[in-house]
Amino acid sequence: MPHQMRLKLALYFMSLALLLHFVGSSVGIILLNAGLERSTDNFLKELVSEVMPAIQIVDSRPTLKNWVERLREDNLRILSTIQIFDKDRQLLEHYGPPGVPLFFSGRLEGSSLNGQLSVRSCNQLIRESGKIYGYVQIQEPTRQNDSAILQAIYAALLVMPVLGVLVALAGYWFASIALKPVEQTMHLLRRFIADAGHELNTPIAIIAASLETLQETLREHSIDGQELTSLIAAATARMSELASDLIFLARVEDPMLAYPFTPIRIGQIVEDVARDYQILAAQKHLQLQVANVDESEVNGNAEFLRRMIGNLLSNSLRYTDAGGRLEISSRSAGNQVEIAVSDTGIGIPADCLAMVFDRFFRVDKARARAEGGAGLGLSIVRAVVETHKGTVNVTSTVGQGTTFTISLPLIKRPGKAS
Ligand SMILES: Nc1ncnc2c1ncn2[C@@H]1O[C@H](COP(=O)(O)OP(=O)(O)O)[C@@H](O)[C@H]1O
Ligand SMILES: [Mg+2]
Repeated sequence: MPHQMRLKLALYFMSLALLLHFVGSSVGIILLNAGLERSTDNFLKELVSEVMPAIQIVDSRPTLKNWVERLREDNLRILSTIQIFDKDRQLLEHYGPPGVPLFFSGRLEGSSLNGQLSVRSCNQLIRESGKIYGYVQIQEPTRQNDSAILQAIYAALLVMPVLGVLVALAGYWFASIALKPVEQTMHLLRRFIADAGHELNTPIAIIAASLETLQETLREHSIDGQELTSLIAAATARMSELASDLIFLARVEDPMLAYPFTPIRIGQIVEDVARDYQILAAQKHLQLQVANVDESEVNGNAEFLRRMIGNLLSNSLRYTDAGGRLEISSRSAGNQVEIAVSDTGIGIPADCLAMVFDRFFRVDKARARAEGGAGLGLSIVRAVVETHKGTVNVTSTVGQGTTFTISLPLIKRPGKAS
């Protein structure tokens, strides 16, 4: 389905763009954070080296009292937190705005007089003539840096949905441009198959008609050619089925062809098709039962649905030996209608179940050919199910039988007036 393919491509584009955006903005935010921390640390180092010369040692203890008094006389305020620790890292003096009263360097979150606070700090050893007296520490709140980072994160998050939608739209648009030639080629290919099928129909019809005349002529002249003519007749029938299957499959699978969809009572189709197959079933001494048909309606194409059910019944007929039983039912379950075709036939080996819907796949080529199967029946079933947005499943036991179950979305549930 080209629409689904386009949607898928657009989603790929979008995921890729969002992933790149996520990686890019994460790296950007990490770098921004590192840069901000580095500049804060440089600033703190500068402050420390400015304060250092003002430290005096009084009674073997470092102090800034004189310096601070001088600042006060000049009416100057201390804007950063300055703390003096002794050599055992016990707090001695504190100046400036409240900070975290602890000895540490780098970032720390702790309680201060002003409540919870996140700060960065820088320490410097106070040493005079080889003796250690303590440490001076300067702290700066990380508030501003944090809000810058937070803003960057918000901006990145805000861009995300906009970017996602834009890239998805652009992706969808690009995909439709890129897929156009592919779609065109597929369309031409399908039309070629359908045309070739139609062209084959005429010679096949001529062969079939001539064969009948030939059979009559042979009978009139009492010439024994029965075996040969029936061989030719079987081959002609197979060719005819192949051509009609090819044409049909090409039509169902071509998204560029519009075919009418109308509300259809699925039970009606089941009953009609089953009636057509009753005679064939009786000829093969098979019992064909129709069960559980209800009033549910689907939005569909009657011709396609008839072919779909017909193909399943013809398979059951073909792959069930005389005396067996076939059953077809259609009943709604939730928002779906389930059409089940089961038989007591030869069954399908488990390792072939996944392949039976493939074109020209036949479990037993010899038997299928003898019975006249072209190998496209289930491919058509799957194509019809897909155009009706449904699903098809198969369960089978070799020697016991097979059940194909098709689920189609309902537009009208049974028992409800329209
Ligand atoms: N009801 C069934 N019972 C057993 N085998 C089946 C049944 N339906 C389909 N198959 C297997 O799946 C193959 C593919 O089916 P299909 O596409 O209809 O091709 P065909 O009927 O022309 O062989 C068949 O050849 C057969 O081997
Ligand atoms: Mg078939």
